[in-house]
Amino acid sequence: MDNRVIIGGQWGDEGKGKIVDALSEGLDWVLRYQGGANAGHTIHTGGKKHVLHLVPSGVLHEGVRCLLGGGMVIDPWALRDEIMALEEEGLAVRGRLFVASTAHLVMPYHRRMDELGETRLKRKSIGTTGRGIGPAYLDKIQRTGLRMGDLKLPADNLERKAIEKILAANELLSDFYQAEPLPARTIAEELVVLARFLGPLVVNPYDVLRGVRAGTESALFEGAQGTMLDIDHGTFPYVTSSNSTVGGALTGTGLPPRCLGEINGIYKAYCTRVGNGPFPSELLGEQGDALREAGGEYGATTGRARRCGWFDLVAGRYAADINGLTGVIITKLDVLDNQPTVRVATAYETEEKRLEVYPSFAEVLSRCRPVYRDFPGWEKPTGGCRRLTDLPAAARKYLEFLETGLGALIVGVSVGREREQMIWTPTGVGT
Ligand code: IMP
Repeated sequence: MDNRVIIGGQWGDEGKGKIVDALSEGLDWVLRYQGGANAGHTIHTGGKKHVLHLVPSGVLHEGVRCLLGGGMVIDPWALRDEIMALEEEGLAVRGRLFVASTAHLVMPYHRRMDELGETRLKRKSIGTTGRGIGPAYLDKIQRTGLRMGDLKLPADNLERKAIEKILAANELLSDFYQAEPLPARTIAEELVVLARFLGPLVVNPYDVLRGVRAGTESALFEGAQGTMLDIDHGTFPYVTSSNSTVGGALTGTGLPPRCLGEINGIYKAYCTRVGNGPFPSELLGEQGDALREAGGEYGATTGRARRCGWFDLVAGRYAADINGLTGVIITKLDVLDNQPTVRVATAYETEEKRLEVYPSFAEVLSRCRPVYRDFPGWEKPTGGCRRLTDLPAAARKYLEFLETGLGALIVGVSVGREREQMIWTPTGVGT
């Protein structure tokens, strides 16, 4: 059974939603394994736009079962709204959307602490999505969080437990942050109502994934964010609070390594980053603005303008190696269609030396300047290309260079936002 893992190769927003959607047809399961409503997966089908934050992108295929894995932190208010929006669109969600009992809850106090924490950091803020992700993972690691399984408790018990947690959070809010406490009883009562709605979706992940473990059911692992935002391997501290790299697929689902098949890294044909932190190949000024407009680079979750830049092969190679990628999918190639020259950062330079290897400290990275290799642009539209041979020669040269530099075959190229705007290249793009 070839259970594919989809991982962001850059700083998130690589277009994973479209790829997961394209690859989940006919599968038994799509599994989200980390993150929460900080993710924003946009999928265009039949002229319709779907933006998903928590629910795996596989949900758009009827018959595919979706699990929000135990590695996630889930805002139950946001999940209810997302499910209701999908049902309003006429999608049958119940009976095929499941939530691991071991996933943690994002509570209103987490969102509040996320905002207050960012304000305290001032100029050193991370630039989070404000969805309470860091504080919710903090509660998990501190062993004080509420879990989705708690939604199955008798209403009285859940209400009591929630009030206890909210009161403890209120102490922090007023004593540490000098902020207003939150209304404990009202929030706890709302949670009890949400539990009636979401409780039936909560499952024991070990039990429901037995077929995947046995190899009789297929699964696709849907990563959120990207390798450079991984809590351990990214540009710490300018990262998210989960493992968005391949290890997260195991810890976030409880499935053993033998269940992982192909490991595909998704990379945009250029780079973007939202929030703060080093980004050596960033384009400032007009060039960056033009790329942002061409690519529609505004956050699906927060609407924030994304920082844009050239493809960073130093970071890209690092991501390929850290995840052990068996294949790469390049997205948004068409966004570069009008560029007279396309650049790739192939090394970094600091005051002292040239670096070919990705540095493990954001402090070093922030002093790195990119060393570029230039490629002539193709200056032709690629949105209608469906085979590798349809692509202009200059675009193919660019892809071949990326394939060699990343050290993994490019197995797909996306040339537009619609489902069918894909070129599948299972044997790579090299000649
Ligand atoms: P948090 O995950 O909301 O705590 O944000 C931490 C960092 O990760 C910030 O720089 C966010 O902009 C970034 N981030 C979180 N989720 C995403 C995503 O889905 N796409 C891109 N960046 C993200």
